[in-house]
Amino acid sequence: MAKLAASFFLLSCLLVVFLSSISAVAYEDKKEYIVYMGSLTSRADYTPMSHHMSILQEVTGESSIEDRLVRSYTRSFNGFVARLTKSEGDKVAKMEGVVSVFTNKKLQLHTTMSWDFMGLKEGHKTKRNPSIESDTIIGVIDGGITPESQSFSDKGFGPPPKKWKGVCSGGKNFTCNNKLIGARYYTSEGMRDSDGHGTQTASIAAGNAVPDVSFFGLGNGTVRGGVPAARIAAYNVCTDIKCPSDAILSAFDDAIADGVDLITISLGGARRPLERDPIAIGAFHAMAKGILTVNSAGNSGPYEYSVTGLVPWILCVAASTTNRGFVTNVVLGNGTTLAGKSLNSFDLKGNKYPLVYGKSAASSNCDAGFCDPSCLEKSRIEGKILVCDVADGVKTAKSVGAIAVIFKSPIPDVAFVVPLPASGLGKKDFESLVSYIESADSPQAAVLKTETVFNRTAPVVASFSSRGPNAFAENILKPDITAPGVEILAAYSPDGGPSDNDPRRVKYSVNSGTSMACPHIAGVAAYIKTFYPKWSPSMIQSAIMTTAWPVNATANSLSKTSTEFGYGAGHVNPIAALNPGLVYELEKADHITFLCGMNFTSDVLKVISGENVTCSPKNETLQRNINYPSMSYRYCGSDSNFTVTFDRTLTNVGTPSSTYKSTVVAGYGSKLSVSVTPSVLSFKTVNQKQSFRVTVIGGDLDSYVPSSANLIWSDGTHNVRSPIVVYA
Ligand SMILES: *[C@@H]1O[C@H](CO)[C@@H](O)[C@H](O)[C@H]1NC(C)=O
Ligand SMILES: *[C@@H]1O[C@H](CO)[C@@H](O)[C@H](O)[C@H]1NC(C)=O
Ligand SMILES: *[C@@H]1O[C@H](CO)[C@@H](O)[C@H](O)[C@H]1NC(C)=O
Ligand SMILES: *[C@@H]1O[C@H](CO)[C@@H](O)[C@H](O)[C@H]1NC(C)=O
Ligand SMILES: *[C@@H]1O[C@H](CO)[C@@H](O)[C@H](O)[C@H]1NC(C)=O
Ligand SMILES: *[C@@H]1O[C@H](CO)[C@@H](O)[C@H](O)[C@H]1NC(C)=O
Ligand SMILES: *[C@@H]1O[C@H](CO)[C@@H](O)[C@H](O)[C@H]1NC(C)=O
Ligand SMILES: *[C@@H]1O[C@H](CO)[C@@H](O)[C@H](O)[C@H]1NC(C)=O
Ligand SMILES: *[C@@H]1O[C@H](CO)[C@@H](O)[C@H](O)[C@H]1NC(C)=O
Repeated sequence: MAKLAASFFLLSCLLVVFLSSISAVAYEDKKEYIVYMGSLTSRADYTPMSHHMSILQEVTGESSIEDRLVRSYTRSFNGFVARLTKSEGDKVAKMEGVVSVFTNKKLQLHTTMSWDFMGLKEGHKTKRNPSIESDTIIGVIDGGITPESQSFSDKGFGPPPKKWKGVCSGGKNFTCNNKLIGARYYTSEGMRDSDGHGTQTASIAAGNAVPDVSFFGLGNGTVRGGVPAARIAAYNVCTDIKCPSDAILSAFDDAIADGVDLITISLGGARRPLERDPIAIGAFHAMAKGILTVNSAGNSGPYEYSVTGLVPWILCVAASTTNRGFVTNVVLGNGTTLAGKSLNSFDLKGNKYPLVYGKSAASSNCDAGFCDPSCLEKSRIEGKILVCDVADGVKTAKSVGAIAVIFKSPIPDVAFVVPLPASGLGKKDFESLVSYIESADSPQAAVLKTETVFNRTAPVVASFSSRGPNAFAENILKPDITAPGVEILAAYSPDGGPSDNDPRRVKYSVNSGTSMACPHIAGVAAYIKTFYPKWSPSMIQSAIMTTAWPVNATANSLSKTSTEFGYGAGHVNPIAALNPGLVYELEKADHITFLCGMNFTSDVLKVISGENVTCSPKNETLQRNINYPSMSYRYCGSDSNFTVTFDRTLTNVGTPSSTYKSTVVAGYGSKLSVSVTPSVLSFKTVNQKQSFRVTVIGGDLDSYVPSSANLIWSDGTHNVRSPIVVYA
């Protein structure tokens, strides 16, 4: 109950995975099924649409299948959506050329200070490549977008890059420009943004620099995206916060063919095997065309195995704090100050008001600790500060006449916008508040206006950010990286309030979530691509991961989820990522080998990849040897010692003639004995490759935290760092 109540408060801000998804629309006994058919064949006599229709005719025995075929994917990969009965779906699944058949599950949607915090300074302080940046197109798969936002103004922009093949098809009252060059939507919602999410993510990745922006004076400064000169193509796949799989696949099908350079997608929650996960499928075909997909890790933390975006061809992003924090102090009648969190722009001038605990203001027998308005007696609350056991009270307090609210926050490390004076307290502070109310004769308090503070303990991964280990591929450490995703000021939609039940309308607002972290990494990836337009997705991913700042796992308190399972390789460092020295490269064929290890058969992989594929006999080391920039091993023996190897290959992208020496730095948990052969790598030319083997020996593993170490290759200038994580 408490969890559910909290979720409503977070709807506008965070991906809420604990709300169950709505099942697909039923047409009698038929459902919408997605039929995924892998790569498009280049055979001249093949037309995907007629193939789809003939499959449907064969399975249904009907000659007219118009009301069966919902949509076809024909531009970047092969497949379709159809209304089928379960037995028809089963029949289709067995047909030649069909990889998977799955129901149309709905996924969910999961500023600007943050760029300074990452070291990407404003204006001339940052090296840029303006002409190439202006030819870079970021595909944003999200909710709608607000084309009128100053963040997307095309002042100073020339016509779209020549490679652009997309359209502006945003429906009524929606116009693109030379900044926002494309728009397509796949739900009944149209293209306009009603909840701010899509506008925020697009502006974080590639919004213009807009000076003097704040949320009612809070966090003021210049907001900007990572690549302010880049173009944006927006693809709306959601209605409200629900984003159907078939729409997500359509957006990938179009974005890849439209000519985007990079895809950012701040939604998820499929938790399905990858052949039924629309983001994994779409991103695979993007990767095959040289397009990197950046995806949010999810907001279901801090629980283990909650992370999504698990395949090696997706760059999966966790959310962490910056050194700017917001505090909303509560001053009790006895003089004690409690530091709460919220974005409270309302000024009650430090006046104290009587406190009333929801639990003691119940009109009948119901438990009003949750501040359910049907339980509360207005006459006992009017003009007072309402105290609630859950964050939900913030939405309802005004309707019962409260002046302000103090609530127990389920996420006390994050400030959310509130529609009236309110502050969220952590468990301990809330308990002292309640004990004060119970002991004082006439308890009262003041809820102060929010202040901006410098937070020394940053970056720390936010409690809500989803954590590893990886539920589907134990040898792939996820998330990959962390980036700012807490209290980010970014462009917003004036069509919706900045919080629930909030009548205010704003053009910029503050929000938190891995949704906000993901476009930061997309911006960094695009920034790298403007210097190295020919770099493959894996080279960009490697550059971002191996140059990351190490995160302090003990900054809060050491636990399983405060480690690499929270932040992966560490915190993004955009400037260092421009000059990684060496990169771990992965090609499409390497991903296919990885899929062989995931037990896909050669036949299925042939359809997915559109190429001849032969999986060699099952080899347990196959997956561990994927040339990934991090190393992960799940040890499932007893407490006897283990020895495990990882084979890797580095490509020189730095100085032609260079010598790198390896060092291993211990991390957390049990001591691992790590050796590297050879321990020195010499390169003579750029693009030269050198291979090495890492051998890890350990035993009697700590089961409380993973056991980790860091492998660092250094030539004295570049430090190429990879985390090694072993867990029991
Ligand atoms: C079109 O959008 C603008 C900007 O949001 C709005 O002011 C106007 O009312 C809209 N017009 C219609 C017909 O919806
Ligand atoms: C905006 O920030 C500057 C400092 O950067 C400060 O002097 C000014 O008072 C702030 N304005 C508002 C409205 O908070
Ligand atoms: C400072 O950062 C820590 C670690 O993320 C967090 O727990 C705390 O709430 C932050 N404080 C403020 C005022 O933002
Ligand atoms: C105020 O009351 C709280 C709760 O009883 C208590 O923890 C705190 O010490 C008190 N402060 C002062 C200054 O007495
Ligand atoms: C990590 O954080 C802890 C707790 O705040 C602090 O004591 C320690 O010095 C930090 N370590 C580093 C390397 O910053
Ligand atoms: C592949 O199949 C084998 C045998 O059924 C099984 O032991 C192994 O765990 C499977 N691997 C994966 C990654 O599913
Ligand atoms: C695929 O492999 C078969 C058998 O080895 C061969 O006959 C065929 O030419 C190959 N096709 C392609 C496209 O390489
Ligand atoms: C498994 O892979 C390793 C490393 O690639 C190789 O040395 C070994 O021979 C392989 N074993 C089998 C049974 O294929
Ligand atoms: C197991 O490994 C630990 C350290 O990794 C080592 O100290 C110990 O001697 C090893 N035990 C055996 C039986 O090899």
